[in-house]
Amino acid sequence: MVADIQKILLDRPTIDARIALLAKEIVAAYGTTEFTLMPLLTGSIIFVADLVRHLPMRMRIEVLAVSSYPGRAITNQGPRVLYPSTFDVAGKHVLIIDDILDSGRTLRTVRDLLQSQGAAAVRTCVLVRKQIAQAQHITADFIGFDIPDEFVVGYGLDYNSYYRNLPYIAVLHPHVLGR
Ligand code: IMP
Ligand code: MG
Repeated sequence: MVADIQKILLDRPTIDARIALLAKEIVAAYGTTEFTLMPLLTGSIIFVADLVRHLPMRMRIEVLAVSSYPGRAITNQGPRVLYPSTFDVAGKHVLIIDDILDSGRTLRTVRDLLQSQGAAAVRTCVLVRKQIAQAQHITADFIGFDIPDEFVVGYGLDYNSYYRNLPYIAVLHPHVLGR
């Protein structure tokens, strides 16, 4: 697996340090307002596991499964909600957690869904944001890192469901894509 890596963009100590600060930003922004954390499966699993252990307040965690890049796709095929939560969002403050902000369609789809279900407020948090022009009309409230517009894996991010377990965020050798 490591032989497939071309370069590491963000190593584990760098990610760990940033997540601790991101948690402080979230604590400061919500104050005493109770919120529900909504991690998007599957990409956010590693990030959210690390993040929640820096969040000391009482909160609910409710997952939602969304897929935009089925199988070997490395371009966005349009977000689809695969596992809708049965959680009643009406009147709730929800913080959506995702691994990466690329086109922004995933966050927009989920945010619109929660708002149509009567959420009191919806905020968004991503570990990384890709620097691409299309992303400009949607951003996230809490962002870990800005990265170049490259297809990345690791720390929850996958290619064809592989590489999520890499403890860093990396770029694959081009010959691996499409394999
Ligand atoms: P968006 O809807 O275009 O913002 O894409 C966000 C979703 O696509 C994320 O939840 C990721 O699962 C996936 N994604 C986007 N870029 C990458 C990437 O570089 N590597 C792996 N998955 C990605
Ligand atoms: Mg995802």
